[in-house]
Amino acid sequence: MENLIKKAAEQLAKAKSVVALTGAGVSVESGIPPFRGKGGLWEKIDPMEFAHIDSFMRDPAKVWNILIREMKDIVDKAKPNDAHNGLARLEELGILRTVITQNVDGLHQMAGNTDVIEFHGNFAWQKCLDCNKKTETFRISLDEIPPKCECGGILRPDCVFFGEIINPQHLLRSRKAAYECDIMLVVGTSALVQPAAYIPVTAKESGAVVIEINPESTPLTGSISDYIIKGNAGKVMKAIVSEVERIK
Ligand code: APR
Repeated sequence: MENLIKKAAEQLAKAKSVVALTGAGVSVESGIPPFRGKGGLWEKIDPMEFAHIDSFMRDPAKVWNILIREMKDIVDKAKPNDAHNGLARLEELGILRTVITQNVDGLHQMAGNTDVIEFHGNFAWQKCLDCNKKTETFRISLDEIPPKCECGGILRPDCVFFGEIINPQHLLRSRKAAYECDIMLVVGTSALVQPAAYIPVTAKESGAVVIEINPESTPLTGSISDYIIKGNAGKVMKAIVSEVERIK
């Protein structure tokens, strides 16, 4: 793994425009479970029953009790880990431009990245189904389920449920970033959910070097990714950034 860390650091130090695509794996070391693989959330609950917009509209209380209450407890307490801090440091060094994240925990912004495209929205906000007013999640009391807006409307997380479209602005900006980058770091994603999983393909087709950081291989490995650095994102990002600082 050491020589791939050195190789990635050398490529990043020379890069003109680096973009990162991240998934739940970057937040695992912050105590937020992934969705798939060991300890994954979808091993315990069925996403189609609890994370689909139709199930939410059919029974918001059920989704609030089973999925959202647990998510709120975990996300309210989570802090950035070495993976988030490494990506923020790459922005400080003028190397990383944009983070496209599938995560809804807001940890990239908390770590200091300033251009974060939240492809699946952000759990830090709730939105009223009636008047569309947004309220910060930490302000919501769970005494009443589902929580209500002042107008009486039901609140829902400002995230993208299964069955919903991605915000067209996020889609366009992400595609543009993928076209224009010369390196795409793909960190902590199983690359199974579209259209996010297609972003590295767009980058590859536009001539970018695609570098995966993940303990496991994904459908991108060996075909889209130039190489995969197998390991936990915190440890790998920390090692890459210290190597970049040494050679830059
Ligand atoms: N460091 C890096 N990667 C890790 C780590 C770690 N410490 N731990 C786990 N991983 C990897 C796993 O090997 C897996 O490839 O992170 C990935 C997590 O995959 P998923 O749980 O499927 O998360 P993600 O790819 O973000 O899911 C995409 O699916 O359910 C929807 O909306 C949800 O945004 C999510 C989307």
